[in-house]
Amino acid sequence: MKPNRVDHIGIACTNLEEAMKFYEALGLTCTNIEVVEEQKVKVAFFPCGDADLEILESTTPDGPIAKFIEKNGGRGGIQHIALNVDDIKEAIAYMKEIGLRMLDNEPRYGAGNSSIAFVHPKSTGGVLIELAQRL
Ligand code: CO
Repeated sequence: MKPNRVDHIGIACTNLEEAMKFYEALGLTCTNIEVVEEQKVKVAFFPCGDADLEILESTTPDGPIAKFIEKNGGRGGIQHIALNVDDIKEAIAYMKEIGLRMLDNEPRYGAGNSSIAFVHPKSTGGVLIELAQRL
């Protein structure tokens, strides 16, 4: 169960439209903007080589991205790193087998048509790691 590559880097922002201007100025192109209701986020994807930059704006004041920004002194920042896996169910089972704590014990829908699960930061040295299988 070795991850294939960095799938994307999740970057929280306070204003998606504003944040997108920076990545567009670099010459990157947004390929998809999507609202994921259950995660309370609006997401823009900017492919950049083998990985995407996933720019996240909270759709509610109580969502995980809003909480991250609050903890970060009101500023955006890197919120998670996603590793690409071939089989999300197998990856979850493996993580548990080696004694890691999962935030998600079952795969759930992730933006960009993926199936995802988060590993608990207590098991990763403080980094929020997402496992992502592209569907
Ligand atoms: Co993500």
